[in-house]
Amino acid sequence: MWAAAHDWRSQPSREGKRSEGRRRMAGWGRALLPPAALLVLAPLVLAPDPYGEDCKSKMYPPSGPTFKGNVPTYIINLDLPPSKRWDELMRDKKTELKTVVQNIKDIANTFFPSGKIVDIVDHKISHLTETLPYPFNEELQGIANSSGVPLGEIVIFNIFYEIFTVCTSIVAEDKTGKLYHARNLDFGLFLGWDVKNNSWTLTRELKPTVVNLDFQRNNKTVFRSTNFAGYIGMVSGVKPDLFTLTMNERFSLDGGYVGIFEWFLGRRDGMWMGFLTRAVLENATSYQDAKEKLAKTRLLAPAYFILGGKNSGEGCVITRSRTAALDIWDLDIKKGTWYVLETNYDRWKPPLILDNRRTPAMKCLNQTTQENISLPTIYDVLSTKPVLNKLTVCTTLMEVYNGHTETYLRECPDPCSPW
Ligand SMILES: *[C@@H]1O[C@H](CO)[C@@H](O)[C@H](O)[C@H]1NC(C)=O
Ligand SMILES: *[C@@H]1O[C@H](CO)[C@@H](O)[C@H](O)[C@H]1NC(C)=O
Ligand SMILES: *[C@@H]1O[C@H](CO)[C@@H](O)[C@H](O)[C@H]1NC(C)=O
Ligand SMILES: *[C@@H]1O[C@H](CO)[C@@H](O)[C@H](O)[C@H]1NC(C)=O
Ligand SMILES: *[C@@H]1O[C@H](CO)[C@@H](O)[C@H](O)[C@H]1NC(C)=O
Ligand SMILES: *[C@@H]1O[C@H](CO)[C@@H](O)[C@H](O)[C@H]1NC(C)=O
Repeated sequence: MWAAAHDWRSQPSREGKRSEGRRRMAGWGRALLPPAALLVLAPLVLAPDPYGEDCKSKMYPPSGPTFKGNVPTYIINLDLPPSKRWDELMRDKKTELKTVVQNIKDIANTFFPSGKIVDIVDHKISHLTETLPYPFNEELQGIANSSGVPLGEIVIFNIFYEIFTVCTSIVAEDKTGKLYHARNLDFGLFLGWDVKNNSWTLTRELKPTVVNLDFQRNNKTVFRSTNFAGYIGMVSGVKPDLFTLTMNERFSLDGGYVGIFEWFLGRRDGMWMGFLTRAVLENATSYQDAKEKLAKTRLLAPAYFILGGKNSGEGCVITRSRTAALDIWDLDIKKGTWYVLETNYDRWKPPLILDNRRTPAMKCLNQTTQENISLPTIYDVLSTKPVLNKLTVCTTLMEVYNGHTETYLRECPDPCSPW
């Protein structure tokens, strides 16, 4: 109720009585109904977003109720055999990983009460690991070995991240030509709403698994990433002095997950999205090289790749189908495009009314202006509801120079949008 009242006060008065009534209904709806029911009712009662708020400012350095803590950093030594690279991390994080995997199994068993799914995962999926390319196959083996979690479950867990990651990513350039890249990592959609304390169980359990990784060869950093322990693909990373990269999931009705089913059935000419980002971070030699590989490699599912470089104008959002780049949206400073932004919708289509993080994020970036853009002001944008929401696990801020990375665990106290 408080959220609805707050929103009502901030509305222009010309909207009048009709919308006041509508918003009051939204307040009741929220008070009485679980999120699933809201899904059905929301188009009727929810516009505009009652959880929205004015753009935040001076949130940085992170503190207060939206800040849940820092994350530890681990070195992943690429000179070790793939099966040994993750041992140290698993030694520290296997308990947290097991909690998350158990939760995913519980959810699967809710949908398929016979227990058959988990059975299939444990006994059949593990063979599929052998069909994955080196070094991923051996790394997954190693993680299973050192965590004690069955290999099939580790594989499914890795696939999960590729499918259920919803996010907001931003690349912005300041007046001096410096590039910033930041993202909120939102995860756990529809996977277990905890009625007792108004949160997503999986989102909560994932927070202790978040780590910063420093991938090294010859004791030197090759790239850095922000990961969930146990996931070997990349959703956020920086290659020092070359480029920054994030991946967002792209829901697509035209063949979205067909590729994943085909992969299970034996057609394996496409690449897992997170493996491509990993290969690009590890081995691409320039912004252009990275852009080319991200735009052209055949994938198992659609995705958005958000890439930033080190020179003025180097920043883009690549909208991918499985086979091709449908759109590349580049920074264009001369034309006034000093940032690019991606949530989980194609930029030429309106975002889902229920999940409009794009408009609030753009509004806050526009308000900040290019003069004042910096990692702290981007953190402000990513701290504004509903860009910050109940699914937000962490915020990562990156700067390509020296491969600078900061990651903060987040919390979205009530009133706060469930997604
Ligand atoms: C897994 O561990 C077993 C013994 O603990 C070992 O024999 C095997 O080589 C290990 N496999 C990998 C891929 O590390
Ligand atoms: C929600 O409840 C669980 C236990 O049921 C607790 O561990 C967790 O800290 C609570 N989370 C919040 C955000 O209050
Ligand atoms: C990395 O550094 C450690 C100690 O600092 C050293 O023992 C090791 O040989 C070095 N490895 C490489 C590949 O240079
Ligand atoms: C990167 O290239 C090296 C050398 O060719 C190769 O061994 C490694 O597997 C590649 N990494 C990925 C993730 O493909
Ligand atoms: C932000 O500014 C851009 C460029 O001027 C404009 O196209 C866009 O509509 C603005 N968006 C919002 C939400 O204010
Ligand atoms: C930019 O930052 C300066 C210093 O903090 C502040 O005075 C100014 O109002 C800001 N400009 C905008 C457009 O927010």
